[in-house]
Amino acid sequence: MSLDGDHAVVLHGVAHRYRGRGAEVQALAPTDLSVAAGEFVAIVGPSGCGKTTLLQLVAGFLTPTEGTIAVGGERVVAPSPDRGVVFQQANLYPWLSVRKNVELGPRLSGVGRAERHRIAARYLELVGLSDFAEAAPYELSGGMQQRCQIARVLANDPAIMLLDEPFGALDALTRDRLQDELHRIWLGSGKTAFFITHSVEEAVYLGTRVLVMSPRPGRVVLDEPVPFAADQRTAALRATPQFVAFRERVAGLIGSG
Ligand SMILES: Nc1ncnc2c1ncn2[C@@H]1O[C@H](COP(=O)(O)OP(=O)(O)O)[C@@H](O)[C@H]1O
Ligand SMILES: [Mg+2]
Repeated sequence: MSLDGDHAVVLHGVAHRYRGRGAEVQALAPTDLSVAAGEFVAIVGPSGCGKTTLLQLVAGFLTPTEGTIAVGGERVVAPSPDRGVVFQQANLYPWLSVRKNVELGPRLSGVGRAERHRIAARYLELVGLSDFAEAAPYELSGGMQQRCQIARVLANDPAIMLLDEPFGALDALTRDRLQDELHRIWLGSGKTAFFITHSVEEAVYLGTRVLVMSPRPGRVVLDEPVPFAADQRTAALRATPQFVAFRERVAGLIGSG
């Protein structure tokens, strides 16, 4: 992993203020952050602390009111399929089949029909949805819709995945299962992940690095490597004293900024 790598993400003094009809809202205080390619950065903090704002800035949906963001040395000025975004609510196109939702990105970038098919088949298999390829999104459960959304993002083969509380609306069992699936997909993929969550448990289980943000205006009050090997993230880890102790320490910082 290297910060000179093609897909390192570097934030330099990035701050964001919303200017609405009412008062201005300082959502994000000036933030410096360097993320090497291949890291899994889990970002946790109280509601309203600017997590989504931070993610949307990296995605290129928002332009920072101060500072700059660069990916691979190139300044971020717009969204790119190389930065795939997974939202909390799956925003699948209801009039397209599961397969066609996954094929959409490659189709828009001009990939031919046979190759699109192959890509969709591959990622639908990876997320366990092969049997639902021809189903409509509304025929899927919430967890399956999130899987489909992840497959749709992966179909663009993004170097960076930006996930905004993707499992927040799911029941606990489905959530645990999808955490394991996401981890398996990420592990060895070389992809960089920014993963936003309310759950300290989820952040520590998935992250190679965990960031805690303070209440508004959001500031990073903790930025630490997670002291567990990436290939040791199994259900058994969650119960170890080391995991519990680290989780509790991170939890103790939430809201204390
Ligand atoms: N479009 C917007 N206009 C004005 N204020 C906003 C807008 N989006 C978010 N905010 C405010 O910015 C702050 C951070 O929001 P957000 O990034 O969504 O936080 P989080 O994702 O951590 O819950 C909140 O106080 C929120 O009300
Ligand atoms: Mg949010």
